Amino acid sequence: MSTPAKKTVTNARKKATAPPTYANYIQGAWVASKNGEVFANHNPADTRDIVGYFPHSTAEDIEAAVAAAAEAYPRWRLVPPPKRAEYIFRVGEILIRDKEAISHDMTREMGKVLKETRGDTQEAIDMAYFVAGEGRRLYGQTTTSELANKFAMTVRDAIGVCGLITPWNFPIAIPSWKILPAILCGNTVVIKPAEDTPLSVYRFVKAFEEAGLPPGVVNLVTGYGETAGAPLVTHPTIRLVSFTGSTQVGRIIATQAADKGKKCSLEMGGKNAIVVMDDANLELAVEGAVWGAFGTAGQRCTAASRLIVHKKVIKKFTQMLVERTQALRVGPGLDPASEVGPVVNQDQLERVLHYIDIGRTRDKAKLLCGGTRLTEGDLAHGYFIAPTVFGDVAPQSVIAQEEIFGPVTAIIPCQDFEDAITIANGVGYGLSAAIYTSDINRAFQAMRDLETGICYVNAPTIGAEVHLPFGGIKGTGNGHREGGVQAFEIFSEWKTLYVDFSGRLQKAQITD
Ligand code: SIN
Repeated sequence: MSTPAKKTVTNARKKATAPPTYANYIQGAWVASKNGEVFANHNPADTRDIVGYFPHSTAEDIEAAVAAAAEAYPRWRLVPPPKRAEYIFRVGEILIRDKEAISHDMTREMGKVLKETRGDTQEAIDMAYFVAGEGRRLYGQTTTSELANKFAMTVRDAIGVCGLITPWNFPIAIPSWKILPAILCGNTVVIKPAEDTPLSVYRFVKAFEEAGLPPGVVNLVTGYGETAGAPLVTHPTIRLVSFTGSTQVGRIIATQAADKGKKCSLEMGGKNAIVVMDDANLELAVEGAVWGAFGTAGQRCTAASRLIVHKKVIKKFTQMLVERTQALRVGPGLDPASEVGPVVNQDQLERVLHYIDIGRTRDKAKLLCGGTRLTEGDLAHGYFIAPTVFGDVAPQSVIAQEEIFGPVTAIIPCQDFEDAITIANGVGYGLSAAIYTSDINRAFQAMRDLETGICYVNAPTIGAEVHLPFGGIKGTGNGHREGGVQAFEIFSEWKTLYVDFSGRLQKAQITD
């Protein structure tokens, strides 16, 4: 009697814990990919744990999603922005209600520690409230006319269907930077999230569904870059492509978009520096460097992968930094004791270890701590790397020039302030930079001279806030900014309106 009962329980348990299969969201309905194929999404802290199966979508699914967005567009663009904002506000409320569950799922699929995924979800909530508030502004200008009895003004106009391609390091925050301003401006969207973090965007899109957003305004298609991302970029109906990811892929997208005359906003790599001057509060600078370099296991575009330190304090700073780094607790992000989680996948693991090897061998930098994969006990099932600090790094070496996107930072000595600025600016990227100093003049000189889109004083290179513009120069971006009201420059076009109430033909610039 007991044996079948036990078997039933076991089967039921198995069923209850079997990874779910998720769907695309097209025209307000949850649908499988046309080919019926799925891919597995693994937990990077323990690859035995399958988070779920997601549609392995192709051009056919993109076609359906773009058609849905195109059909929804003419109606959505006529919904008044304050009404569009009400849906967005409701999304913010739903995210608050579900914050803990969403953040838990996010840690499970992406790896970063729970405190950070809560921050990621909070960023989307902040963005929802910020953007919803803007629904009653979206200001244009009224101005003068050179002709009598003529009125001149500008308004923001929607663009059409937008293709959004988002990365895995901020699985909800970055999608919120794109979807929310896009739909507030009257566009409809198709989002293709990174294949490592589809669950977070699934949960985000569920919030739009629950908020009652009309079908077709937001569409979700999961899959890989080559098979789902590429057809989205090149689809003739897509008027705008917004991409966050590697510089290499960003440049391909920019070329394809330019070829088809599409608007394109890119947010790509970084090689961000913290400058530590001889008058800096060293305790604070070390805390900032640790958070800037190892927060999100160094997988932020804004990560502090270079620490440019004045020769007078470099010895002390290095000793304090290494001590603090060695004390970091590396482990699964769902364990409240962990401070640094795994990197996101096998490719990322190999890439980071490869750069560590280059640092040791080709660059001949001094490995001060870390430098290895961690494999004790259950860590062997995940992609854990010991937080790594290199010392005596030459500014032109590979690990000081190329984006590593992992828990690796390089201490670069500098002679003085001018030298520090030259080193900081001597890379192909320009996203974020920071200076630690107690000299107000130096702080302002640094803010003026650092060639980056974002600059911090006495704070690390990470920690963007949603109501301020985010983005960079050189290899980092293509002139656009996400966040802040500046994001509306991406997702709308200016329309100039003239109203002549003179009752006669007036000719601008022509006097006779
Ligand atoms: C990022 O690097 O993408 C996140 C923004 C930040 O923490 O500054």
